[in-house]
Amino acid sequence: MNTSTIQSQETDELSSFDAIKEAHTLLGDPENIRQYYEKWAKAYNQDVSNEMYSGPEYISVYFDMLPKQDSKFLNLRDPAIKILDSGCGTGLVGVALRHRGYQHIDGFDLSQNMVREAESTQAYRTLTGNCDMTQRIVAYQDNSYDATISCGVFTLGHVPPTAIEEMIRVTKPGGLVVVSTRKSYYDSTDFQSVYKRLQTEKKVTLVSYIMDGPYIAEEGAHYWAFRVS
Ligand SMILES: C[S@@+](CC[C@H](N)C(=O)[O-])C[C@H]1O[C@@H](n2cnc3c(N)ncnc32)[C@H](O)[C@@H]1O
Repeated sequence: MNTSTIQSQETDELSSFDAIKEAHTLLGDPENIRQYYEKWAKAYNQDVSNEMYSGPEYISVYFDMLPKQDSKFLNLRDPAIKILDSGCGTGLVGVALRHRGYQHIDGFDLSQNMVREAESTQAYRTLTGNCDMTQRIVAYQDNSYDATISCGVFTLGHVPPTAIEEMIRVTKPGGLVVVSTRKSYYDSTDFQSVYKRLQTEKKVTLVSYIMDGPYIAEEGAHYWAFRVS
């Protein structure tokens, strides 16, 4: 490998790292976030791949391995269960879930351009852009999904921990809500007190969690699975 190749690779890696870091400075403002991802959509997959982003693959394996306790009306072992990917981005989670055999995956995101990238994967049944999960999303009805999943969204500068309540709202009783929380996000937000409050209010029970699982080169993430009451 000659020197110029090495230099250009190093520059690419630096800019991928910077793009991810800059996304963490968006202060949770949905309009800032939307504009940022509208511009980043085309380069996103390459940038996160340069930083060895394994969250989508890992959360899909985690989801697949969760105890699927069935209720009278829910058969969570059925690969045809309805899954909603919340903050689906370019569709990396949808693709990973499809590889594991899940057949019905819908997705939404704040950014229309990220959703366009997700469309091109053909992993999703339906996709909706301009959806802000910090508010009620009118496109999705209460208790309509067997499972909701979100990777890379509970991260610095993006959504507050209370955004999980919108995932709970659209998930059927007995269904699963599965999220990643990047370690630095978990350490600097009240995610823990939010989920404990939701447990006290009997809205969810914590089924399982993994601390410091693989996520991205720079740091790990925690993975959480809740059952909706
Ligand atoms: C780091 S990307 C993760 C995308 C995808 N889940 C993945 O793992 O590759 C974060 C995504 O969250 C979306 N997002 C951020 N805030 C959001 C909000 N309030 N409502 C819906 N989506 C949001 C962004 O538009 C972006 O696509």
